[in-house]
Amino acid sequence: MIRKYQVRSIPDSIINKIIENAHRAPSAGHTQVQEFIIVRDAETKKKLKRVSVNQEQVEEAPLLIVVCANTSRSIGRYRQRGKEFYSVMDGAFASILILLTAVNEGIGAGFVGAFEDDKVSEILGLPEYVRPIGIIALGFPDEEPKKLERIAKERLIHHERW
Ligand SMILES: Cc1cc2nc3c(=O)[nH]c(=O)nc-3n(C[C@H](O)[C@H](O)[C@H](O)COP(=O)(O)O)c2cc1C
Repeated sequence: MIRKYQVRSIPDSIINKIIENAHRAPSAGHTQVQEFIIVRDAETKKKLKRVSVNQEQVEEAPLLIVVCANTSRSIGRYRQRGKEFYSVMDGAFASILILLTAVNEGIGAGFVGAFEDDKVSEILGLPEYVRPIGIIALGFPDEEPKKLERIAKERLIHHERW
């Protein structure tokens, strides 16, 4: 995750590549619930920052992609599980594709999950059946990525059962 960005904007060719890959994300039962809001407007970014526990990168990134799940395409089929679980999973798959594509293209990206859902929905005019899953801040990196330690694999991998 990168949280400091240069001011220069990301070329459209790279944005298109990021979206192309996100669009290939899997979804439960191929319901294709993932939708994306591309935000460049300074005022909108400022509003989104305020409802994302004031995380500076939300306002400062030249570009945000807000990953949303349109549950209207899955709820009829999967009911509660579609609404509460698959929608999040589907959005997460699309998000990781955005993050990986960005890194591949030399773009810094940071996933922001700490936000007030209802306020994000209001700012972006989301219908009630569309759920915001993540705000991804993107820009040319202006910091070195930190390599955070991971819990040793041996403590996390189980064989045959827990
Ligand atoms: C569900 C989820 C929510 C997250 N929310 C935030 C967030 O609100 N702000 C932030 O700066 N990073 C957020 N992150 C990024 C994590 O903090 C980050 O992945 C973790 O610290 C490990 O760092 P690394 O991915 O750079 O190795 C989130 C990650 C996930 C998976």
